[in-house]
Amino acid sequence: MYHRPAQKFLAALLQQMEQRGELASHAEFYARLGAHFSDVYQLFYRLYGGRDDVSERLSQLVRMLVRAHTERPDELKQIDRTRVADPQWYLSSSLVSTMLYVDRFSGTLAGFEKRIDYLKELGINLVHLMPLLECPEGKNDGGYAVCNYRKVDEAYGSMGDLQRVISSLHKKGMLLQLDLVLNHTSDQHEWAQAARAGDAHFQDYYYLFDDRSVPDEYERSLPEVFPESAPGNFTFIEKLGKWAMTVFHEYQWDLNYTNPHVFLEMLDILLFLANRGVDVLRLDAVPYLWKRIGSVSQNEPEAHLILQLFNSCAKVVAPGVAFMAEAVVQPAEIVRYFGEGDYAGRECEMAYHVSLMVLLWDCIATGDTRLFMHAMRAMPEIPREATWFTYIRCHDDIGLGYADKDILSVGFDPFLHRRFMVEYFTGEYPGSPARGATFMYNPRTQDARISGTAASLLGLERAVELQDESAISAAIDSLIMLYAVVTSIGGIPIIYYGDEVGMTNDYTFLTDPVLHDDNRWMHRPRIDWERMKRRSKEGSVEQRVFSRMQRLIGARKATPEFGAANPMHLVDAENSHILSFLRHDESQRTFVTANVTDLPQYIDRSVLGRAGLPEDAVDLITGKPPVWRAGKILFEPYQCYWLSTRRIN
Ligand code: GLC
Repeated sequence: MYHRPAQKFLAALLQQMEQRGELASHAEFYARLGAHFSDVYQLFYRLYGGRDDVSERLSQLVRMLVRAHTERPDELKQIDRTRVADPQWYLSSSLVSTMLYVDRFSGTLAGFEKRIDYLKELGINLVHLMPLLECPEGKNDGGYAVCNYRKVDEAYGSMGDLQRVISSLHKKGMLLQLDLVLNHTSDQHEWAQAARAGDAHFQDYYYLFDDRSVPDEYERSLPEVFPESAPGNFTFIEKLGKWAMTVFHEYQWDLNYTNPHVFLEMLDILLFLANRGVDVLRLDAVPYLWKRIGSVSQNEPEAHLILQLFNSCAKVVAPGVAFMAEAVVQPAEIVRYFGEGDYAGRECEMAYHVSLMVLLWDCIATGDTRLFMHAMRAMPEIPREATWFTYIRCHDDIGLGYADKDILSVGFDPFLHRRFMVEYFTGEYPGSPARGATFMYNPRTQDARISGTAASLLGLERAVELQDESAISAAIDSLIMLYAVVTSIGGIPIIYYGDEVGMTNDYTFLTDPVLHDDNRWMHRPRIDWERMKRRSKEGSVEQRVFSRMQRLIGARKATPEFGAANPMHLVDAENSHILSFLRHDESQRTFVTANVTDLPQYIDRSVLGRAGLPEDAVDLITGKPPVWRAGKILFEPYQCYWLSTRRIN
């Protein structure tokens, strides 16, 4: 919205900059600056208006935008233009993503370049490379403790290598996603080093306290993220004789966003990464950006203001870059990261669909879709400009963060139900084929999370060990069924690396002195490329999974109604073992319906009728009609149909 003081401020500053020859010539840039500046100004004042230096800092911000624009390469400006002209570019069904660790997947960035064609063969066109900026050796939380945001860690290569990877991807029509770890830096970052050496300016970049009085006040309401490996939220820094806030690990110092210098430094880094050609920035741990004594210090209103401010600034310089929020919080809170009110769709364009992920695992453990259907129905709407990343596994644990009221409403006890889930996926529950592990058991709250690859959680590891062919088939079918849901429900699906060939847990972390106490490494496998060749060996597990995944991805891309701009309607299949939803656009409709159990199931023909599908609808996954038995559709164990009015081959 037009805001007089903001426009006045901008006009005066631009005039001054013009006189000093500081202005870059680019009409599109200034048009965007003008369009977004009222927001930038007001957000900045809401966050930092109480400080004497607010106008100085805001001028610094504008200069930063101009400089970043001047430095932005022409080919990226061209991409910006295409995306501004097609602002829904990330909503199309043609996007399919993966996430992977460069060292574990291909050794180095140069090695990765040689593997791009493998990802293309699978159908991937958006690649999230896990953190690869410089980190201290040893413990670094898988790269989430960054000590230099402008340098690629030597273990992976150089910034030049990264740029080569990005241009190779772009040439092949693929996109790159990178993390921006906003909430904390490594304790080895130069700001932390300066703070430790006594520099007051840099001490103010972090939350440092002389004694335990303030930390103790915070601790009264702060939960623990890693209660087993990093209990508490503060770490005593010997050299300083002060306590640093370290919500994650003791070597990750929380940044103090009440200080505008911190915001500006991170904005500069954000624009630096955008100018390297990154297409999607995954903003790490966003709920934690603002702390407040007496609260859990998650999802505070200021955390949203910070993200809106980052987004408005990024849209001025790099409008083709999208933000993805990593917000592992309750459904009602997650959707707020897409932005609300005037900011709907203008905070983060994308977010992990954490609820969908955990609800799908719930279906597997219970063989029952009631909680899934209920909780999905209760999910708040998201802005039209926003979309989910839909997935079943990522590099983190599975937290059972669904809402208690949803669990209660289908008649389960929240505490016992969560305990059942943990027991089921760790294989303790009688009859469970799963091979997962408990992650971060908290004896105080009895909360626990789950680690393990999808294939191991679904019983493939056990089945292969027992050479039980029917159990192997069931595990593969269930993996494909879960992926058939996340590739069709709306959003950008993530094929977690290794899942495309059914990789089971990697236990090598247990003997690694740095990694052994973090069992998330069991589902961050090292890829053995010799073994990957089996994906073309008829009848191997790898081939059975890979070929079906490839087919799913291909079919998804050929089904525009799966695009995120189209609605998703849940449909009651009148069978609590079946989950169903309808996707449609103006011309086509596809009814997705999946059996989450290891037994055959049926749905009545009337369900198809209610979804508006004719009885001669064909399954897009197999290209065949469904099997009918006495007026009902028959599902094999873990079968998912995409029944459609559309025909593909
Ligand atoms: C995010 C990452 C996780 C990391 C944490 C701290 O949650 O996904 O792996 O441990 O942030 O940076």
